[in-house]
Amino acid sequence: MMRRYLVAGNWKMNTTRESGTQLAQALVAEVPAENPGVEVLVCPPFPYLTSIGDVVNGSGVGFGAQNCYHEAPGAFTGETATEMLTDIGCRSVILGHSERRHILKETDADINLKVKKALASGLQVILCVGELQSEREADQTEAVLDTQMTGGLDGVDASAFDQIVIAYEPVWAIGTGLTATPDQAEAAHQYLRNWLKDKYSAEISDATRILYGGSVKPDNAQELLSQENVDGALVGGASLKPELFIPIIQAAS
Ligand code: G3H
Repeated sequence: MMRRYLVAGNWKMNTTRESGTQLAQALVAEVPAENPGVEVLVCPPFPYLTSIGDVVNGSGVGFGAQNCYHEAPGAFTGETATEMLTDIGCRSVILGHSERRHILKETDADINLKVKKALASGLQVILCVGELQSEREADQTEAVLDTQMTGGLDGVDASAFDQIVIAYEPVWAIGTGLTATPDQAEAAHQYLRNWLKDKYSAEISDATRILYGGSVKPDNAQELLSQENVDGALVGGASLKPELFIPIIQAAS
């Protein structure tokens, strides 16, 4: 089955109003409005979501959030409801990113609540999974992926999978300059695709996009994206520079 590539930029806690606007403008100028081969997304910090949404409105670039809360709007100081994200035209949300798992101590159960709430609100969910260096060295990569997939998707119905994207991000490759080799990435993606087949169905396994994230750069994008089970990239550092992010998008096009 032909899966449409997705190249998503996770800006993390970076940019200013001005630099983010310039970055989004540069992408809008380069990304075709109609791009059947590749979906392009940027995920700015919360304070800039609306202004970046205005810049990319009507273009070939979508915008998403980096987190959300699982409750309906109400007394939850500092949190952001999925209803607020859809209200401003945001179409996607990254959940389970390793920085939220390891720095903010989010558990699979926390992530699962957010996944279900985001899906119920009609958002596309990019669910991140990935092992630590120590877990890889202890040969626990598949066990970790199984735990994170099982926990994150607990109670998620097969019918929601047209809204779900999985991102495999080995923690040891994030922001370190270390990249999984194409073979290492492909092996993990193959494991995840088989997991989807076992737990859901062959159709869902075939149709679900699995992105790779972890030090993706123009010089390694082509080889990673050419792996059979790699359907795009979740890009951190390189998504902050148009001269790096645009070639990555082009490698998927
Ligand atoms: O969400 C993106 C990943 O954490 C990858 O970040 O490209 O800076 O390694 P990076």
